[in-house]
Amino acid sequence: MKYAIVLILGVLFATTLLCDGQKTKNKLKSKNKVRTTVAPQLARLDLQKAEPCSAAKCKLPDCRCSDATLPRPKFKGKEQEIPQFVTITFDDAVNAVNYAQYDLLFDGLTNPDGCPATGTFFLSHEYTDYVRVNALYNAGHEIALHSVTHGDGTDYWREADIDTIESEFGAQLQILETFAKVDPKKIQGMRLPFLQISGNKTFEAVKSLGLTYDSSWPTQQFKNPPMWPYTLDYLSVQDCQIGPCPNAELPGVWVNPMVTWTDTEGYSCSMIDACAYPPADEIDALFEWMLENFNRHYQSNRAPFGMYLHAAWFSRGRNNFAAFKKFVHHLSTYPDVYMTGISRMLEYVKKPVLGEPFKSCEVKPKTQCQAVHCNVQKTSTGEIRYMSVCDKCPIVYPWLKNPLGLDM
Ligand SMILES: *[C@@H]1O[C@H](CO)[C@@H](O)[C@H](O)[C@H]1NC(C)=O
Ligand SMILES: [Zn+2]
Repeated sequence: MKYAIVLILGVLFATTLLCDGQKTKNKLKSKNKVRTTVAPQLARLDLQKAEPCSAAKCKLPDCRCSDATLPRPKFKGKEQEIPQFVTITFDDAVNAVNYAQYDLLFDGLTNPDGCPATGTFFLSHEYTDYVRVNALYNAGHEIALHSVTHGDGTDYWREADIDTIESEFGAQLQILETFAKVDPKKIQGMRLPFLQISGNKTFEAVKSLGLTYDSSWPTQQFKNPPMWPYTLDYLSVQDCQIGPCPNAELPGVWVNPMVTWTDTEGYSCSMIDACAYPPADEIDALFEWMLENFNRHYQSNRAPFGMYLHAAWFSRGRNNFAAFKKFVHHLSTYPDVYMTGISRMLEYVKKPVLGEPFKSCEVKPKTQCQAVHCNVQKTSTGEIRYMSVCDKCPIVYPWLKNPLGLDM
Protein backbone atom coordinates (compact mmCIF):
# COMPACT_ATOMS: atom_id res chain seq x y z
CA MET A 1 0.00 0.00 0.00
CA LYS A 2 2.82 2.35 0.96
CA TYR A 3 4.43 1.65 -2.43
CA ALA A 4 1.23 2.34 -4.28
CA ILE A 5 0.94 5.82 -2.77
CA VAL A 6 4.54 6.63 -3.43
CA LEU A 7 4.18 5.44 -7.01
CA ILE A 8 1.07 7.47 -7.71
CA LEU A 9 2.64 10.57 -6.18
CA GLY A 10 5.70 9.82 -8.25
CA VAL A 11 3.80 9.80 -11.51
CA LEU A 12 2.09 13.09 -10.68
CA PHE A 13 5.33 14.70 -9.65
CA ALA A 14 7.30 13.43 -12.63
CA THR A 15 4.63 14.89 -14.92
CA THR A 16 4.80 18.35 -13.34
CA LEU A 17 8.58 18.25 -13.45
CA LEU A 18 8.62 17.36 -17.11
CA CYS A 19 6.32 20.23 -18.02
CA ASP A 20 8.36 22.58 -15.89
CA GLY A 21 11.54 21.31 -17.45
CA GLN A 22 10.31 22.20 -20.90
CA LYS A 23 9.25 25.67 -19.85
CA THR A 24 12.54 26.55 -18.23
CA LYS A 25 14.53 25.11 -21.10
CA ASN A 26 13.70 27.94 -23.46
CA LYS A 27 14.31 30.59 -20.87
CA LEU A 28 17.71 29.22 -19.98
CA LYS A 29 18.95 29.88 -23.48
CA SER A 30 19.27 33.58 -22.73
CA LYS A 31 21.62 32.90 -19.82
CA ASN A 32 24.92 34.74 -19.92
CA LYS A 33 28.22 32.98 -20.32
CA VAL A 34 30.17 32.21 -17.19
CA ARG A 35 32.90 34.59 -16.23
CA THR A 36 36.04 33.63 -14.39
CA THR A 37 38.35 35.64 -12.25
CA VAL A 38 41.53 33.82 -13.30
CA ALA A 39 42.94 34.11 -16.80
CA PRO A 40 42.79 30.53 -18.12
CA GLN A 41 46.16 30.65 -19.85
CA LEU A 42 47.86 31.58 -16.56
CA ALA A 43 46.02 29.11 -14.36
CA ARG A 44 46.26 26.03 -16.54
CA LEU A 45 49.22 23.75 -16.82
CA ASP A 46 50.08 22.28 -20.18
CA LEU A 47 48.81 18.76 -20.51
CA GLN A 48 51.06 16.01 -21.72
CA LYS A 49 49.81 13.25 -23.94
CA ALA A 50 49.43 10.09 -21.88
CA GLU A 51 51.65 7.09 -22.53
CA PRO A 52 50.55 3.47 -22.56
CA CYS A 53 50.24 2.01 -19.08
CA SER A 54 52.53 -0.63 -17.65
CA ALA A 55 52.06 -2.38 -14.34
CA ALA A 56 55.73 -1.79 -13.48
CA LYS A 57 55.31 2.01 -13.57
CA CYS A 58 51.74 2.31 -12.31
CA LYS A 59 51.21 1.04 -8.77
CA LEU A 60 48.45 1.15 -6.17
CA PRO A 61 47.19 2.95 -4.18
CA ASP A 62 47.43 6.02 -6.44
CA CYS A 63 47.83 4.57 -9.92
CA ARG A 64 45.92 1.79 -11.65
CA CYS A 65 46.08 0.72 -15.30
CA SER A 66 42.80 0.59 -17.21
CA ASP A 67 43.58 -2.88 -18.58
CA ALA A 68 44.16 -4.51 -15.17
CA THR A 69 41.40 -7.09 -14.94
CA LEU A 70 41.91 -7.98 -11.26
CA PRO A 71 42.44 -5.83 -8.15
CA ARG A 72 45.89 -7.44 -7.79
CA PRO A 73 47.49 -9.90 -10.23
CA LYS A 74 48.05 -12.37 -7.38
CA PHE A 75 44.26 -12.67 -6.89
CA LYS A 76 44.20 -14.83 -10.02
CA GLY A 77 42.52 -18.13 -9.21
CA LYS A 78 40.99 -16.60 -6.07
CA GLU A 79 38.34 -14.52 -7.80
CA GLN A 80 35.65 -15.95 -5.57
CA GLU A 81 37.28 -14.39 -2.52
CA ILE A 82 37.18 -10.88 -4.00
CA PRO A 83 34.39 -8.85 -2.37
CA GLN A 84 31.71 -7.91 -4.89
CA PHE A 85 30.87 -4.21 -4.74
CA VAL A 86 27.52 -2.93 -5.96
CA THR A 87 27.23 0.82 -6.54
CA ILE A 88 23.65 2.06 -6.69
CA THR A 89 23.46 5.63 -7.98
CA PHE A 90 20.66 8.13 -8.62
CA ASP A 91 21.02 11.29 -10.71
CA ASP A 92 19.27 14.69 -10.67
CA ALA A 93 17.18 16.52 -8.08
CA VAL A 94 16.20 14.97 -4.76
CA ASN A 95 12.63 15.89 -3.85
CA ALA A 96 9.97 14.78 -1.38
CA VAL A 97 8.67 12.01 -3.63
CA ASN A 98 11.89 10.35 -4.65
CA TYR A 99 13.28 10.79 -1.14
CA ALA A 100 10.41 8.62 0.13
CA GLN A 101 11.40 5.98 -2.43
CA TYR A 102 15.09 6.11 -1.47
CA ASP A 103 14.14 5.83 2.17
CA LEU A 104 12.00 2.74 1.53
CA LEU A 105 14.62 1.20 -0.71
CA PHE A 106 17.53 1.36 1.74
CA ASP A 107 15.44 0.84 4.87
CA GLY A 108 17.00 -1.99 6.91
CA LEU A 109 19.35 -2.96 4.11
CA THR A 110 22.77 -4.05 5.40
CA ASN A 111 26.05 -5.42 4.11
CA PRO A 112 27.75 -8.63 5.37
CA ASP A 113 29.94 -6.60 7.76
CA GLY A 114 26.82 -5.22 9.45
CA CYS A 115 27.32 -1.73 8.05
CA PRO A 116 24.32 -0.11 6.34
CA ALA A 117 24.07 -0.45 2.56
CA THR A 118 24.41 2.94 0.91
CA GLY A 119 24.22 4.59 -2.49
CA THR A 120 25.53 7.64 -4.33
CA PHE A 121 23.40 10.66 -5.25
CA PHE A 122 24.57 12.81 -8.16
CA LEU A 123 22.77 16.08 -7.49
CA SER A 124 21.75 18.76 -9.88
CA HIS A 125 20.43 21.95 -8.29
CA GLU A 126 17.06 22.95 -9.66
CA TYR A 127 14.08 21.62 -7.60
CA THR A 128 16.43 19.90 -5.14
CA ASP A 129 15.23 19.74 -1.56
CA TYR A 130 18.38 20.32 0.48
CA VAL A 131 16.81 19.29 3.77
CA ARG A 132 16.29 15.84 2.30
CA VAL A 133 19.80 15.84 0.87
CA ASN A 134 20.99 16.47 4.40
CA ALA A 135 18.92 13.49 5.59
CA LEU A 136 20.50 11.24 2.93
CA TYR A 137 23.92 12.51 3.93
CA ASN A 138 23.32 11.88 7.64
CA ALA A 139 22.08 8.37 6.77
CA GLY A 140 25.51 7.64 5.32
CA HIS A 141 24.86 8.00 1.59
CA GLU A 142 27.44 9.57 -0.69
CA ILE A 143 26.61 13.02 -2.02
CA ALA A 144 28.15 13.82 -5.41
CA LEU A 145 27.88 16.43 -8.17
CA HIS A 146 25.76 16.61 -11.31
CA SER A 147 26.03 20.41 -12.03
CA VAL A 148 23.90 23.43 -11.16
CA THR A 149 21.95 24.01 -14.37
CA HIS A 150 21.99 20.51 -15.91
CA GLY A 151 22.54 22.40 -19.19
CA ASP A 152 20.14 22.56 -22.08
CA GLY A 153 21.34 19.53 -24.03
CA THR A 154 24.46 17.61 -24.96
CA ASP A 155 25.98 20.43 -27.08
CA TYR A 156 26.33 22.62 -24.01
CA TRP A 157 28.44 19.98 -22.28
CA ARG A 158 30.40 18.76 -25.29
CA GLU A 159 31.50 22.32 -26.05
CA ALA A 160 31.82 23.54 -22.47
CA ASP A 161 35.21 25.07 -21.71
CA ILE A 162 36.96 24.15 -18.51
CA ASP A 163 35.79 27.31 -16.72
CA THR A 164 32.17 26.43 -17.38
CA ILE A 165 32.67 22.88 -16.12
CA GLU A 166 34.47 24.08 -13.01
CA SER A 167 31.84 26.68 -12.34
CA GLU A 168 28.90 24.27 -12.83
CA PHE A 169 30.33 21.64 -10.50
CA GLY A 170 32.15 24.01 -8.13
CA ALA A 171 28.99 26.06 -7.56
CA GLN A 172 26.97 22.91 -6.85
CA LEU A 173 29.59 21.93 -4.30
CA GLN A 174 29.19 25.29 -2.55
CA ILE A 175 25.41 25.01 -2.64
CA LEU A 176 25.56 21.58 -0.98
CA GLU A 177 27.93 22.83 1.68
CA THR A 178 25.83 25.88 2.49
CA PHE A 179 22.26 24.60 2.20
CA ALA A 180 22.58 20.87 3.00
CA LYS A 181 25.51 21.04 5.47
CA VAL A 182 27.55 18.53 3.49
CA ASP A 183 31.25 18.61 4.30
CA PRO A 184 32.92 19.57 0.99
CA LYS A 185 35.76 17.15 1.70
CA LYS A 186 33.24 14.30 1.58
CA ILE A 187 32.18 15.27 -1.93
CA GLN A 188 34.49 13.31 -4.20
CA GLY A 189 32.77 12.55 -7.45
CA MET A 190 30.90 13.93 -10.38
CA ARG A 191 28.76 12.79 -13.29
CA LEU A 192 28.10 14.88 -16.38
CA PRO A 193 24.49 15.50 -17.43
CA PHE A 194 23.64 13.27 -20.42
CA LEU A 195 26.98 11.53 -19.66
CA GLN A 196 28.45 14.08 -22.06
CA ILE A 197 32.13 14.31 -21.18
CA SER A 198 34.40 16.73 -23.03
CA GLY A 199 37.78 15.09 -23.42
CA ASN A 200 40.58 16.11 -21.08
CA LYS A 201 38.57 19.05 -19.73
CA THR A 202 36.16 16.97 -17.65
CA PHE A 203 39.01 15.25 -15.89
CA GLU A 204 41.05 18.41 -15.45
CA ALA A 205 38.01 19.76 -13.61
CA VAL A 206 37.95 16.67 -11.36
CA LYS A 207 41.49 17.54 -10.37
CA SER A 208 41.10 21.29 -9.99
CA LEU A 209 37.93 20.93 -7.91
CA GLY A 210 39.75 18.58 -5.55
CA LEU A 211 37.53 15.62 -6.42
CA THR A 212 38.66 12.00 -6.76
CA TYR A 213 36.65 10.56 -9.62
CA ASP A 214 34.27 10.98 -12.51
CA SER A 215 31.61 8.40 -13.33
CA SER A 216 30.21 9.39 -16.71
CA TRP A 217 32.14 7.24 -19.16
CA PRO A 218 30.30 4.11 -20.33
CA THR A 219 32.01 1.02 -21.70
CA GLN A 220 30.41 -1.55 -23.98
CA GLN A 221 33.58 -3.30 -24.96
CA PHE A 222 34.81 -4.13 -21.48
CA LYS A 223 31.90 -5.86 -19.86
CA ASN A 224 32.92 -9.49 -20.12
CA PRO A 225 35.01 -9.53 -18.04
CA PRO A 226 33.94 -6.11 -16.81
CA MET A 227 36.31 -3.20 -16.30
CA TRP A 228 37.58 -2.10 -12.88
CA PRO A 229 38.01 1.59 -11.98
CA TYR A 230 41.40 3.03 -12.96
CA THR A 231 43.41 6.24 -13.02
CA LEU A 232 44.39 8.52 -15.89
CA ASP A 233 48.10 8.58 -15.13
CA TYR A 234 48.48 6.62 -18.35
CA LEU A 235 46.49 6.20 -21.54
CA SER A 236 43.10 4.52 -21.13
CA VAL A 237 42.16 1.55 -23.29
CA GLN A 238 38.45 2.16 -22.66
CA ASP A 239 36.16 2.40 -25.71
CA CYS A 240 34.89 5.90 -26.35
CA GLN A 241 31.08 5.77 -26.70
CA ILE A 242 30.19 9.43 -26.13
CA GLY A 243 33.29 11.42 -27.07
CA PRO A 244 35.49 13.28 -26.89
CA CYS A 245 37.38 11.09 -24.42
CA PRO A 246 40.57 12.09 -22.57
CA ASN A 247 44.06 11.12 -23.70
CA ALA A 248 46.17 13.47 -21.60
CA GLU A 249 48.20 12.40 -18.60
CA LEU A 250 46.10 13.27 -15.51
CA PRO A 251 47.79 11.67 -12.51
CA GLY A 252 45.58 10.50 -9.67
CA VAL A 253 42.26 11.15 -11.42
CA TRP A 254 40.01 8.10 -11.14
CA VAL A 255 37.57 6.92 -13.77
CA ASN A 256 34.70 4.83 -12.47
CA PRO A 257 33.66 3.35 -15.82
CA MET A 258 29.95 2.81 -16.31
CA VAL A 259 29.99 -0.84 -17.28
CA THR A 260 26.89 -1.21 -19.41
CA TRP A 261 24.04 -3.64 -18.88
CA THR A 262 22.64 -5.83 -21.64
CA ASP A 263 18.94 -5.59 -22.44
CA THR A 264 16.72 -8.45 -23.61
CA GLU A 265 17.69 -7.87 -27.26
CA GLY A 266 21.41 -7.77 -26.56
CA TYR A 267 21.85 -3.99 -26.72
CA SER A 268 24.06 -2.21 -24.19
CA CYS A 269 22.70 0.44 -21.84
CA SER A 270 24.78 2.64 -19.57
CA MET A 271 21.88 3.28 -17.22
CA ILE A 272 19.11 0.86 -16.29
CA ASP A 273 16.43 3.31 -17.38
CA ALA A 274 18.12 3.82 -20.75
CA CYS A 275 17.70 0.22 -21.90
CA ALA A 276 15.75 0.10 -25.15
CA TYR A 277 14.38 -3.41 -24.59
CA PRO A 278 13.90 -4.00 -20.88
CA PRO A 279 12.02 -7.15 -19.83
CA ALA A 280 8.26 -7.27 -19.37
CA ASP A 281 6.83 -5.24 -16.50
CA GLU A 282 6.72 -8.21 -14.13
CA ILE A 283 8.60 -8.61 -10.88
CA ASP A 284 10.13 -11.97 -11.74
CA ALA A 285 11.19 -11.01 -15.27
CA LEU A 286 12.82 -7.81 -14.03
CA PHE A 287 14.47 -9.61 -11.14
CA GLU A 288 15.94 -12.36 -13.35
CA TRP A 289 17.24 -9.77 -15.78
CA MET A 290 19.00 -7.85 -13.00
CA LEU A 291 20.51 -11.10 -11.76
CA GLU A 292 21.86 -11.98 -15.22
CA ASN A 293 23.59 -8.62 -15.48
CA PHE A 294 24.94 -8.97 -11.95
CA ASN A 295 26.30 -12.46 -12.61
CA ARG A 296 28.48 -11.17 -15.44
CA HIS A 297 30.42 -9.44 -12.65
CA TYR A 298 29.92 -11.82 -9.75
CA GLN A 299 30.87 -14.95 -11.66
CA SER A 300 33.96 -13.49 -13.32
CA ASN A 301 36.42 -10.89 -12.01
CA ARG A 302 34.07 -9.22 -9.52
CA ALA A 303 34.51 -5.74 -10.99
CA PRO A 304 32.10 -3.38 -9.18
CA PHE A 305 28.55 -3.76 -10.45
CA GLY A 306 26.84 -0.45 -11.15
CA MET A 307 23.09 0.02 -10.85
CA TYR A 308 22.69 3.46 -12.38
CA LEU A 309 19.29 5.07 -12.74
CA HIS A 310 16.92 7.99 -12.17
CA ALA A 311 14.12 7.70 -9.61
CA ALA A 312 11.66 8.50 -12.42
CA TRP A 313 12.17 4.89 -13.58
CA PHE A 314 10.34 3.67 -10.46
CA SER A 315 7.20 5.37 -11.71
CA ARG A 316 7.57 4.25 -15.29
CA GLY A 317 6.50 0.64 -14.76
CA ARG A 318 4.09 -0.82 -12.26
CA ASN A 319 6.66 -3.30 -10.95
CA ASN A 320 9.94 -1.45 -11.33
CA PHE A 321 10.21 -0.35 -7.72
CA ALA A 322 9.15 -3.68 -6.24
CA ALA A 323 11.55 -5.61 -8.52
CA PHE A 324 14.44 -3.29 -7.71
CA LYS A 325 13.74 -3.60 -4.00
CA LYS A 326 13.45 -7.38 -4.22
CA PHE A 327 16.75 -7.54 -6.07
CA VAL A 328 18.76 -5.40 -3.62
CA HIS A 329 17.30 -7.37 -0.72
CA HIS A 330 18.38 -10.54 -2.48
CA LEU A 331 21.90 -9.10 -2.83
CA SER A 332 21.99 -8.37 0.89
CA THR A 333 21.76 -12.13 1.58
CA TYR A 334 25.12 -12.82 -0.14
CA PRO A 335 28.05 -13.20 2.26
CA ASP A 336 30.38 -11.23 -0.04
CA VAL A 337 28.31 -8.47 -1.67
CA TYR A 338 28.78 -4.88 -0.46
CA MET A 339 26.46 -2.06 -1.54
CA THR A 340 28.36 1.18 -0.99
CA GLY A 341 28.92 4.63 -2.40
CA ILE A 342 31.43 4.88 -5.24
CA SER A 343 34.06 6.65 -3.12
CA ARG A 344 33.91 3.90 -0.50
CA MET A 345 34.33 1.30 -3.23
CA LEU A 346 37.35 3.23 -4.56
CA GLU A 347 38.93 3.07 -1.10
CA TYR A 348 38.85 -0.69 -1.53
CA VAL A 349 40.22 -0.56 -5.08
CA LYS A 350 43.20 1.44 -3.82
CA LYS A 351 43.96 -1.15 -1.11
CA PRO A 352 42.38 -4.39 -2.24
CA VAL A 353 42.25 -7.49 -0.07
CA LEU A 354 40.52 -10.86 -0.27
CA GLY A 355 37.58 -11.45 2.05
CA GLU A 356 36.15 -8.63 4.13
CA PRO A 357 37.01 -5.32 2.50
CA PHE A 358 36.93 -3.01 5.54
CA LYS A 359 37.88 -3.15 9.21
CA SER A 360 35.09 -0.85 10.35
CA CYS A 361 32.00 0.98 9.16
CA GLU A 362 32.13 4.51 7.86
CA VAL A 363 31.35 7.08 10.52
CA LYS A 364 28.02 8.72 9.76
CA PRO A 365 28.04 12.51 9.77
CA LYS A 366 25.90 14.03 12.50
CA THR A 367 25.13 17.44 11.07
CA GLN A 368 22.34 19.57 12.49
CA CYS A 369 19.87 20.93 9.98
CA GLN A 370 17.11 23.30 10.97
CA ALA A 371 14.67 23.01 8.06
CA VAL A 372 13.52 26.31 6.61
CA HIS A 373 11.23 26.77 3.63
CA CYS A 374 11.92 29.59 1.24
CA ASN A 375 10.21 31.24 -1.70
CA VAL A 376 12.92 32.98 -3.64
CA GLN A 377 13.15 34.55 -7.06
CA LYS A 378 15.19 33.07 -9.86
CA THR A 379 16.80 36.25 -11.14
CA SER A 380 17.33 35.05 -14.73
CA THR A 381 13.60 34.49 -15.32
CA GLY A 382 11.77 36.26 -12.50
CA GLU A 383 10.05 33.01 -11.48
CA ILE A 384 9.56 32.21 -7.80
CA ARG A 385 11.14 28.94 -6.73
CA TYR A 386 10.22 27.05 -3.61
CA MET A 387 13.28 25.71 -1.82
CA SER A 388 13.86 23.81 1.44
CA VAL A 389 17.25 24.38 3.00
CA CYS A 390 19.09 24.00 6.28
CA ASP A 391 19.08 26.95 8.68
CA LYS A 392 18.78 30.08 6.55
CA CYS A 393 17.05 31.08 3.31
CA PRO A 394 19.10 32.61 0.53
CA ILE A 395 18.00 36.07 -0.70
CA VAL A 396 17.54 34.93 -4.30
CA TYR A 397 17.42 31.46 -5.87
CA PRO A 398 21.03 30.16 -5.97
CA TRP A 399 22.45 29.80 -9.47
CA LEU A 400 25.69 29.44 -11.35
CA LYS A 401 27.23 32.85 -10.73
CA ASN A 402 25.57 33.30 -7.37
CA PRO A 403 25.56 29.88 -5.68
CA LEU A 404 24.93 31.31 -2.23
CA GLY A 405 21.93 33.29 -3.44
CA LEU A 406 23.26 36.60 -2.15
CA ASP A 407 21.69 39.97 -2.82
CA MET A 408 23.80 41.17 -5.75
C1 LIG B 1 44.09 16.12 -24.52
O1 LIG B 1 45.39 16.61 -24.24
C2 LIG B 1 46.41 16.06 -25.09
C3 LIG B 1 47.76 16.51 -24.55
O2 LIG B 1 47.84 17.90 -24.49
C4 LIG B 1 46.14 16.50 -26.53
O3 LIG B 1 47.11 15.94 -27.37
C5 LIG B 1 44.75 16.02 -26.94
O4 LIG B 1 44.43 16.51 -28.22
C6 LIG B 1 43.68 16.47 -25.95
N1 LIG B 1 42.47 15.78 -26.29
C7 LIG B 1 41.26 16.32 -26.26
C8 LIG B 1 40.13 15.50 -26.70
O5 LIG B 1 41.07 17.47 -25.92
ZN1 LIG C 1 20.81 14.19 -15.14
